[in-house]
Amino acid sequence: MSTLDRIRSDFPILQRQVHGEPLAYLDSTASSQKPRQVLEAMDAYYRHTHANVHRGVHTLSEEATAAYEQARLRIARFINAASPKQVIYTRNATESLNLVAYSWGRANLKPGDEVLITEMEHHSNIVPWQLICQITGATLRFVPITAQGELDFPALDQLLNERTRVFAFTAMSNVLGAINPTAELVAKAHAVGAIAVVDGAQSVPHLHSDVQALDVDFLAFSGHKMLGPTGIGILYGKRALLEAMPPFLGGGDMIREVKMTGSRWNELPYKFEAGTPAIAEAIGLAAAVEYLDQLGMDWVAQHEREITAYAWNRLHEIEGLRVLGPGPERRGGLLSFVLGDLHPHDIAAVLDGAGVAVRAGHHCAQPIHDHFGIPATTRASFYIYNTHAEVDRLIAALHKAKALFEF
Ligand SMILES: Cc1ncc(COP(=O)(O)O)c(C=O)c1O
Repeated sequence: MSTLDRIRSDFPILQRQVHGEPLAYLDSTASSQKPRQVLEAMDAYYRHTHANVHRGVHTLSEEATAAYEQARLRIARFINAASPKQVIYTRNATESLNLVAYSWGRANLKPGDEVLITEMEHHSNIVPWQLICQITGATLRFVPITAQGELDFPALDQLLNERTRVFAFTAMSNVLGAINPTAELVAKAHAVGAIAVVDGAQSVPHLHSDVQALDVDFLAFSGHKMLGPTGIGILYGKRALLEAMPPFLGGGDMIREVKMTGSRWNELPYKFEAGTPAIAEAIGLAAAVEYLDQLGMDWVAQHEREITAYAWNRLHEIEGLRVLGPGPERRGGLLSFVLGDLHPHDIAAVLDGAGVAVRAGHHCAQPIHDHFGIPATTRASFYIYNTHAEVDRLIAALHKAKALFEF
């Protein structure tokens, strides 16, 4: 059995049909599918171990706490965090980015300060900064992108200055596929005394991520895009920054002591984990990173590079089709495109009829679509389980859509 066949046999959902056709799932950028190893880890936890964590002295609570903390350790190792205390469980990348914006931003930003983000950000790395700039009086600035759909580096160098307190950017665009040079961008931020906040929602599932080598101050990502369950995300942060930050949400578990006159906070990471956490989901995410590590992130990246290059070439066989963003050598495993003046929703509906699942819309990144003067795109995205044959089915269905709408 080939590696790809073995991987596919681990994903029960890939056996199903859609409209009488085998499912070709090309929407992993929105959310990936889950291998049985993740499903079984969560099932086993609920069947044998579940109780609330950090609160009980009984056996189940102690076992649940141990599994929950073991999962944190496993995830810390996956991104090479120096300590599991720097790995905070959140609901998703969105919550991780909000946590930084609100907690760090409220304590550190003031009028005259600048927050720098880029035109290629997902809304979750735009809106929290807009909100915190409104609250603190700081100014939000955007790094523009080039005609090729990559960061405009000369403009970035102009925009980064001694007033810049935060540079927040995506490591990989969920629309353009562009892979940004994270280490270089972090160094640029540090050179002007700013902190670097990295949106790793698209990079961590697909590329080897070493937070210490990259020297990121914060890294946000979501479990559900990397074979894990929904409802769990991670915020990694540098210890000194996390220690100095006030809590984000208040409630149980995040306190050391509560008096009617005030409260004192728990140590890291619990200071940022108010309330009963997503225990099964943390365990599921640890199983997901175990799965990715066993494959090896080099294999993951290589597989995606190959399939993306193949899809890039095949898509360009279709007259009137334009892919947004850089060439296959400088992008991750996703391709957003326009096809003549066909509406992406019409395209996606025809593809769905052929069992091919793609995304249509603005992909929560309206500014980048505004940049190109288009309201929406169709996006095909690839992960460890996708095959060349699925790309061929995408192409055949696109020809069908084109013929159907006759342009
Ligand atoms: C680049 C990027 N950042 C952030 C997010 C937000 O992820 P979530 O919805 O899991 O919080 C996404 C999701 O598509 C994304 O692609």
